[in-house]
Amino acid sequence: MKSVLLFVLLLALAGAAQADRGAQVYAQCAGCHQANGQGIAAAFPALAGELPRIAAKGKDGRLFPARVLLFGLQGPIVSQGKNVSGVMPSFGYLSDADLAAVLNYVFKAWGNDKLLPKDFKPLSPAEVAALRPEKLNPQQVYQSWKKLGLK
Ligand code: HEC
Repeated sequence: MKSVLLFVLLLALAGAAQADRGAQVYAQCAGCHQANGQGIAAAFPALAGELPRIAAKGKDGRLFPARVLLFGLQGPIVSQGKNVSGVMPSFGYLSDADLAAVLNYVFKAWGNDKLLPKDFKPLSPAEVAALRPEKLNPQQVYQSWKKLGLK
């Protein structure tokens, strides 16, 4: 019984540590997407409110933000009702663990956690690693945004 409690405690601590790390890594995103996740008009899309909409698009939606971070994104999108046409640089030089941490941070921050699908599962570093061999370019990631059917 004690060891079960200890295990649960360790899991909780590991989750909290990943959340902190995610917030730290997000400092590299905030210049464009802003600390409050609202982005800037037509230049940088809002992540607040938008990540749950993306996550609701099944497996490809859940993995789409990971592909954006690994490979970048270029093409006209609609985010929170605003047209955005910019270029998102690749962050593929970050570790799988840091990418998973920042992804899980943006999926949950700014009240996004309340809008996520009930069965949403955080991304693991192994899932991020498994996408690396796809070696997409930003235009190909854009094609996968189009397939999500977001408007
Ligand atoms: C230099 C500015 C810049 C930085 C830094 C940046 N982004 Fe982006 N991001 C963009 C732009 C611009 C787009 C939209 C690209 C387009 O219009 O195709 C975007 C798109 C996205 C999307 C897809 C949003 C959607 O609605 O489809 C996600 C997710 C995202 N960024 C997350 C991040 C995260 C997490 C970080 C930090 C690790 C980050 N971005 C850093 C500029 C930036």
